[in-house]
Amino acid sequence: MINHHFDDVPRSYLFSEVARRVQTYRQAHPDKSLIHMGIGDVTRPLCPPVVQAMQAASAEQGQADSFRGYGPEQGYPFLRQAISGYYESMGVQVDPADIFVSDGAKSDLGNLPDLFTTDCRVLIPDPVYPVYRDTNLMAGRPVAYLDATRENGFLPLPDDSLDAQLIYLCSPGNPTGAAYDKAGLTRWVEYAREHDAVILYDAAYESFIRSGVPRTIYEIPGAEECAIEVCSLSKTAGFTGTRCGYTVVPRTLVREGMNLHDMWLRRQSTKMNGVAYPVQRAAEAVFTPAGLAGCRESIDAYLRSAAVVARVLDDLGIWYCGGKDSPYLWMECPRGMDSWAFFDALLENAGVVGTPGSGFGRNGEGYFRLSAFAGEQQAAEAMARMADWLRRG
Ligand code: MLT
Repeated sequence: MINHHFDDVPRSYLFSEVARRVQTYRQAHPDKSLIHMGIGDVTRPLCPPVVQAMQAASAEQGQADSFRGYGPEQGYPFLRQAISGYYESMGVQVDPADIFVSDGAKSDLGNLPDLFTTDCRVLIPDPVYPVYRDTNLMAGRPVAYLDATRENGFLPLPDDSLDAQLIYLCSPGNPTGAAYDKAGLTRWVEYAREHDAVILYDAAYESFIRSGVPRTIYEIPGAEECAIEVCSLSKTAGFTGTRCGYTVVPRTLVREGMNLHDMWLRRQSTKMNGVAYPVQRAAEAVFTPAGLAGCRESIDAYLRSAAVVARVLDDLGIWYCGGKDSPYLWMECPRGMDSWAFFDALLENAGVVGTPGSGFGRNGEGYFRLSAFAGEQQAAEAMARMADWLRRG
């Protein structure tokens, strides 16, 4: 009667366990100041055009002549059109009809496996965002892990020894910040097409890309026949507390005679009733010139915080990657500490919260993720405390 596969996942979700330990620390040290560089939660407010759009739409809901009830199942056409325009600005054609509006990437990434059988062979890079792993283990799917290591730049590539049907990719990657270039993504698209596999591509951090690597898998020819792309306004526009994302399921994606777009529409219209109208209006405003400029300002600020963190890690001679096309820096734990030992010691000695690398997979052991969503000053203060503690020995 009960799904015992819940025994196959860690007892707590990674960020719940981090929050639990932070809470314990707080209770023991109520007067100590903490700096949060753990969960990737934004700190800068929504930009003015987005707030204005949300306010105006909320007011509409209070008037009989503009009030709206249930919205269209895939999201309002005005928002899907705006998202399609955003893709066009990246040089990619995505039909609004292929776009589904949702409450964020996490839900879609957790729900998309509904389209696949429980014996479908899942391939997940390790380390990676734990939602991919936990979701599939909870459903009892066999999961294979693909080693992402320092040697391959945390960007593993396929070869014919793989036997995967559903492949998760995240670029720029969570937790390592490493981003695939065009050649790497092309290898994955070719693999998926040759093996009738499907790629679930998590592009939640695309707006941090400054180096010119692809911001969407649809830059790769043929991806519309093998890839679903999931994206979120959480980091792009500061929507972690507002909740809105979007997923592209191209109508050209067909496996075993089944059209995945039609299946996803059937799934969503059965199990979800959409995103609040004022939130969809706010999301629409993200894609206006003023909205995009406001969002870029915030992302630039986060990238400056990342540069502050990187400078101190350089000074300390600690190996790391990320922090360039990504808000995440992935560092080696000093003194050979394991990930949770470093988490506890950094919290205790410096009052800084990060995320233990082992929470992202076996290959994350011995590493640690710092997120750069704190302000520049806070990031500098956190790193000064870390440096002071490490130099004190
Ligand atoms: C993270 O810190 O990895 C993300 O913020 C978690 C999430 O987006 O759900």
